[in-house]
Amino acid sequence: MSRTIFAFVLAATLAAAMVRQEYPVSDDGIPQPPGFPAPVYRITSGTNNAALAALGERLFEDPILSADSTISCETCHQPFAAFAHVDHALSHGVEGRIGRRNVPSLQNLAWQTSFMWDGAIANLDMQSLSPITGHDEMASNLDTLIHKLSTNAAYPRLFREAFGTDTITVPRVLRAVGRFVAGFVSANARYDRYIAGKDTLAENELRGLQLFRAHCASCHAEPLFTNNGFASNGLRPNAALPDSGRYLVTHNQQDLFRFRVPTLRNITRTHPYMHDGRFKKLRDVLAHYASPQALDGHADASVRSIGPLSDVDRKDIIAFLMTLEDQ
Ligand code: HEC
Ligand code: HEC
Repeated sequence: MSRTIFAFVLAATLAAAMVRQEYPVSDDGIPQPPGFPAPVYRITSGTNNAALAALGERLFEDPILSADSTISCETCHQPFAAFAHVDHALSHGVEGRIGRRNVPSLQNLAWQTSFMWDGAIANLDMQSLSPITGHDEMASNLDTLIHKLSTNAAYPRLFREAFGTDTITVPRVLRAVGRFVAGFVSANARYDRYIAGKDTLAENELRGLQLFRAHCASCHAEPLFTNNGFASNGLRPNAALPDSGRYLVTHNQQDLFRFRVPTLRNITRTHPYMHDGRFKKLRDVLAHYASPQALDGHADASVRSIGPLSDVDRKDIIAFLMTLEDQ
């Protein structure tokens, strides 16, 4: 097997293990890893949970959701990259249209209180309406989409299995996809096993964890590595690609250039980094946080106070972040 194919198969297997890892399951069928808070996501009743997730999986992988049937959710959210788009700074949609933002990873969404870099969407079951209809993403007309699905050989039966009748509606499509992505759980990294007392961390990784708790965890809070809030981490606005962040949603001056605090789980697989994909390497990210003089005026106090970090500090924090890889 060539090295590239081997690497691909390995990555795909790891991604599958990440999704299929067994945890106790709530009544809603959402996994409950030990140490995690209660999930925010709730399934609306009157559905067959397993069939709903299976339908959602099929829709997630099917380019039928895009206007010209070329792009699926998976085209942008790649399973081997924790469902981000590896090596692409900005998203690529139908007819090669380039989006405005970097594709985020999809993990532990059932615990997330808002979605998108600016938190524009509050409900996971509504989220996929945005990519399905978005001009730079799948650009579908909803009537046409429902017609395509209703006349497809497989979908009417799959909707009947999930919902009891074979009527295909937009809310049903959205609920199925929402249910599927709510099941992407990462909670079995070496970090998690260390916390559970089942694994050890090396000295440099432990030092990295301490530094992380001192400088980063106020925003990237354990165990989800996000506090579900919005912040400015001091990035200078991108002149080529203006983006006011949370301000676009609230129109509150204080939210100018603030973005959703992203999770750092599987961060080694989801490069490039930040809402506009400006940093290729974790090294570049650490260099940013460790340069107080280069921070934007909007930076939150907790980022300003990080101060210069030595080379060893930066390396140790990165070593710790690597323990968040879920195998
Ligand atoms: C053309 C690339 C592209 C396609 C296709 C696409 N997405 Fe996305 N997705 C993105 C980008 C870019 C964002 C961030 C958008 C933003 O912040 O405005 C995103 C955000 C998300 C989020 C929010 C994640 C978070 O942490 O806030 C979810 C969930 C999601 N997509 C699921 C889906 C589903 C389900 C589909 C298929 C119906 C899909 N995406 C299709 C590019 C894509
Ligand atoms: C004040 C809150 C805050 C603090 C403190 C903070 N971050 Fe962040 N971090 C953010 C926000 C907000 C983003 C997204 C910014 C954007 O894309 O515009 C982010 C993005 C990142 C990303 C990129 C994630 C991705 O998916 O693209 C990494 C990696 C990261 N931070 C690591 C760290 C590390 C390491 C520290 C400590 C040295 C730290 N952060 C401290 C708020 C914070």
